[in-house]
This record gives sequence, structure tokens and C-alpha cells, in this order.
Amino acid sequence: MTEWKKIMAVFCIAIPLFTTSCTPFVVDETSRDVQNFETEPAENLIRVGFSQLGSESKWRRANSISIQDSLTVEDGFFLQFNNARQKQENQIKAIRGFISQQVDYIAFCPVTEDGWDTVLKEAKDAGIPVILVDRQVSADHSLYTTWIGEDMRKEGENAGRWLARKLEERGRSRDKIHIIELLGTRGSSSQIGRSIGFDSICDQHPNWVLLDREDGEFTTAKGQEVMTGFLKKYKDIDVVVCQNDDMAIGALQAMKDFGMDLYSDRKPIVISFDASRQGLEMVTKGIIDVDVECNPSSGPKLAAVIHELERGHAVAGEYYMDEKVFTIDNASSYAASRSY
Ligand code: AHR
Repeated sequence: MTEWKKIMAVFCIAIPLFTTSCTPFVVDETSRDVQNFETEPAENLIRVGFSQLGSESKWRRANSISIQDSLTVEDGFFLQFNNARQKQENQIKAIRGFISQQVDYIAFCPVTEDGWDTVLKEAKDAGIPVILVDRQVSADHSLYTTWIGEDMRKEGENAGRWLARKLEERGRSRDKIHIIELLGTRGSSSQIGRSIGFDSICDQHPNWVLLDREDGEFTTAKGQEVMTGFLKKYKDIDVVVCQNDDMAIGALQAMKDFGMDLYSDRKPIVISFDASRQGLEMVTKGIIDVDVECNPSSGPKLAAVIHELERGHAVAGEYYMDEKVFTIDNASSYAASRSY
């Protein structure tokens, strides 16, 4: 550790009252505006510009915390963190800001898959390695160094496979099954991957009928709004697939407001993703039937990959996070210890 880093580390340990982790600045997700770049000199630290796509869900907030808690001064980083508030244009603007400041690395969670080619090329031309976190892009892999994230397609397949087993268990494997889907942000790789994965299992069951799918934007408010519309439109819904817990909570509220007994076996089967604490608590109560985990703790891997690159080592082209599937049989032991 250099002298400067040692001084910073001591400073951070000695004054813990000001910040929970010793990042150069604390991000307040609710009040920071889009263009917010730290300008302090960061000599000897690895300068990383990070563009987070927003703070739409508990998962997202946990992901931001994981990044901020991992890219700390103690570990040799100077993190410039930017919240794009769901807008790709804000992410592109932030990335261009990082390029003009000549940061050492750029990392970002792309809000949608498409539309990154130009800015990725600009980063490449500037010689700045780019690391994608969480979601993926359709741009060519040669334009970025690596990706650290979740296997969205497998998550969707796991949800579909679980449903097939559940219907079999209930003696309904030959019945017509009416399904509705609340999608996450349309065009995001999480939405696309989960839909492709779930559809691939649907295709193996001609008796599963996908009645409708609509964008619930990964938020509780939109989830509730979309589900209310579905309940008015469709009398017979057997399965509700919510592509995250925040939307599931909104959908369940809509079902309750509609007069459904959420504790009854006759309510629609509810499938959700993320496995947040609130989601898992609902699984333990039988309100959500299965919660497919999406792991937000990619910060430590991001820090480790950057350190590897700093040492001049080659890194893999992609890194997958570990993920589980939770039902009433295993959710309770995880719910209490969940950070998000
Ligand atoms: O890309 C991961 C997804 O984005 C999570 O499922 C969702 O909660 C988040 O907002």
C-alpha cells in the first residue's frame, strides 16, 4: 500500500461517523442528480466511473450498495458513482463524462440491451476498459472487457421448470393453464432473458396459454397498475409471473384489493424473481409460491476483476453470480439474513 493509501485508510477507520463505508463520497440515491462527478485528486487510487441505471427496486439499491462497499479507498479505489434514473441517455452522458476525465475503468449496468455501440467504441478508442455489471448489451464483445452478472435465461427456465413440477403435483399437468406475465423494463437483458427462458419451457407444454404480458417496469406501483388491468380483463388466471419482487408486491396488492384471498390454495400461483427479504417472507407464508434468486452482490467480483487487470492478468469474458430457487421448503432460513 502506498503512503497516500495508508493515510486514507487510517482516516477512514478513525472517522467512521461520517460514512458507513469509506468511499470517496456517499451516494444518496434519492437526492443526487445525474451529472455528479467527484473532482478531488485521486492520486495512486484506481479511478472507476460507475453508471448505475437507477434505483427502481430493492434489488437495485442492494446492487448499488454492493458496488460502493466494494470499491473503497481502503481497497485502493476512487469511485465516481452516477445514478442514471432509468434513462439510457443519462448513462451515455455519464460514460462520456468518465471518458473525458480519463478514469482508469468504466463500469455500468446497462438499462437496455441495445444502443451502446457508439459510446463503447468511444471508450475503447480512449483506451479505457469497460466492465458490464448485471445486465448485458447487444454490442460486440470486443467493445468491452468483461461482464459480471446473473443468468437471466436460466432464471426464467428455472421458473418454468418449477411450474411444471407444481402443476404435476397438483394433478393439473394436462389442464389448460392460463398465464399472465408482468415484465421488467422492456428491452432490458433481464426482461429478455427471463422471458426467453420461461417461454422455452412454455413451448414444451401446449396446454399452457400465455394470456397477456405487459411492462411493469420492475416497480411496485406499475406492477399494481398492470395487475389491476389484468384482473379486470381476465376472469380465469391460473399463474401470475412477476419478473421481480417489487412488481409481485404490487400485483399481490391488486389481487387483495380485488377481493382475492392470498392465503387460499385457489388463488393464482405466483412466480417471482429476485428473492428479496420481503419476497422470501411472502414465500414462507405461501403468498408467493416460488422466488427465483437474482444475486445483486456483484461488487466484490468487480473489485477483484479490476485488481486482476491492474496486475496485468487476463480475465474471463463473463462471470456468473451464484443463484438459488426458493420455495416454502427453504425460504425461511434465508429470509432473516437477507440484506435487501
Ligand atoms: O437486472 C436485474 C433486475 O433489475 C432485478 O430483477 C430487478 O429487481 C432490477 O431492478
